Formats: sequence, C-alpha cells, structure tokens
Amino acid sequence: MSEINFEGRVAIVTGAGAGLGKTYAIELAKRGAKVVVNDLGGARDGSGFGTNAADEVVDEIKQAGGQAAANYDSVATVEGGEGIVKTAVDNFGGVDILINNAGILRDKSIVKMEEHEWDLVLAVHLKGAWCVTQPAFKLMKDAGFGRIINTASGAGLYGNFGQANYAAAKIGLVGLMHSIHTEGMKYNIKCNTIAPIAASRLTEDLLPPEISSKLDPKFVTPLVMYLVSEENPDSNMIFNCAAGWFSRTAIMCGTGTTIGNADGDISAEQVRDAWSDITNLDEIKTLGNVNESFGYLGKLLQ
Ligand code: NAI
Repeated sequence: MSEINFEGRVAIVTGAGAGLGKTYAIELAKRGAKVVVNDLGGARDGSGFGTNAADEVVDEIKQAGGQAAANYDSVATVEGGEGIVKTAVDNFGGVDILINNAGILRDKSIVKMEEHEWDLVLAVHLKGAWCVTQPAFKLMKDAGFGRIINTASGAGLYGNFGQANYAAAKIGLVGLMHSIHTEGMKYNIKCNTIAPIAASRLTEDLLPPEISSKLDPKFVTPLVMYLVSEENPDSNMIFNCAAGWFSRTAIMCGTGTTIGNADGDISAEQVRDAWSDITNLDEIKTLGNVNESFGYLGKLLQ
C-alpha cells in the first residue's frame, strides 16, 4: 500500500493548539509536511489570548523530528490572516495546504442572543476562513497547487437548538467552498468541507459521555489527510465524519415543476396546487455551479 505523504509541502492549520486541529498538525508533520500551527490560545468562547497552545504543539512536532512554526494571530481579521500566511512564507517559503479549523462557541437561543455573540462567532468561523484563505489562495494560484479544507458542522448543515450564530457561519463556509472551488479548479486548487463530530473542549458539555468516549478527534484526521493530499481527485464536496463514520452529504436540487411559460403571471394558488411537485425530491442531483440550475428551465428555453 503506497503511503500518503506531504514531503515538500507546507501546511497551515488554524486553531491547531487543541482538539481536531492539533491532530491534523501532528499527522501532517508526521507525514513530512512543514506545518504552521496557528492558535490564538483563548477560551472556548473566544475571549482571552495565550501562546502556549500553539507552542506546545510545535514542541511536540519538533520532538518527534518534524518541522513546525507557531503563529498566534486571530484568524478573524485581515491582518491576522495575512500574518498567518506570512509565517508560512517566512519559515517555509509558501503554502500548499490550508485547513480552516479555528472555532469558538457562543450558544444562545434566538430570542436571547446578543449582537456581539452573533458577530464574534461569524467573525471567527466565516470571516476567519476568508481572511486566511485569500492570501493563501494567491500563493496557491501562482504555484498551481492548493488543498483547502473548510470546517462546517452538522448544526449548520442540518440544524441545532441554540446555535443560530454558529449554524449560519458553518453553512456559510459551504458557500465559501463553492467559490474557492469554482475559482480555484483551473489552478489545481481543491476545496472540500468537513462536518466532524469529536470530543474536544468545544463539545465537552454538549455530547453525552457514553458517546463522547468513542469520538476521539483522531478518527476525523484520516479523511482530512486524504482530502489535502495530491491523490485526492475531488473538490467541492461535504463530508460527515465521526468515530470512523465517513459519509458524503450534499446540497441537492429536485426536478421540480415549471408553471406557465414565463409569458404571464403566476398565482400563489398555482404554487399551492403544484406544491407536491415543487417539494418532491424523488429525482435529485448535485449541481456543479449555479449555471447548471438553468438546465431546469429547459422547457422554457426550448
Ligand atoms: P477546540 O476548542 O478544541 O479547538 C479550536 C481551537 O481554535 C482552539 O484551540 C482555539 O484556541 C482556536 N481558536 C479559537 N478562536 C481562534 C481565532 N480567532 N484564531 C485562531 N485560533 C482560534 O475545538 P474543536 O472541537 O477541535 O473544533 C475545531 C473545529 O471543528 C471548529 O471549527 C469547530 O466549530 C468544528 N467542529 C467541531 C465539532 C466537534 O464535535 N468537536 C463539531 C462540528 C464542528
């Protein structure tokens, strides 16, 4: 069996001081990558700052004979994103792999959520991925190679109580993936999204203990390693992953129905009466980009 290796590759893992990100950084380094271990080192809710988290992971990698550099910037600002990518360039000469992983939680029900809780969670997860991706993408484009992972969540893909800010940010990362894929494919830049479940600081009081013991972050890492490897042929996909369960999930489009010929008005009653056809998902397809949805207007375009 040939081994996946990252010799000669430079990887950035954001939020790599703990949890899932730490396992990615260590495994990437074990397989030969030079790794930027980014972590702000704050609390679970995004408050505070500390250098220890990133330093400890860098030490662990170096002690095992790997190469790594620490970065303590927040992903949530443009300057922070540029600083993270600069750490990769200054220490290792570029960036080939980016894992957008940093995350926090500020859970509240919709009625109780305050503006700053919405803003901070969106800033770390969604804007944060953008802030690091943009400078990394520029270098990947010039190099003709890039592998990017966005980290979504079942809360964003499927829904969860008390996580409006988090869910909105996480599904936003799927939209960002579509754009990275569409603009990156001619430069061999692939982007995929994972929706992991793992026992970590983030989930310590959310997961039932009997399940938690099975959800070691190390079970998510193999999928991420494959997705960021040269061997991975696929892009623009979303994967569930937890405790050894790996499954593709997707945004699908139903065939639907066409009312009229776009030559007159359509009434709300016509929509009501066609509701079972509009909501029918018996024949569904993934669409490669928005233009493919025009294909469903075939009857009108003939
Ligand atoms: P974690 O709390 O163990 O690790 C997240 C790391 O991100 C922390 O070390 C933290 O210091 C760092 N971080 C937070 N804000 C940052 C910022 N502004 N800049 C740089 N670093 C920052 O959490 P975990 O579970 O490892 O989560 C990793 C990712 O996976 C997150 O995006 C999370 O939303 C996502 N996720 C995790 C799930 C789980 O079951 N653990 C479920 C679904 C998604």
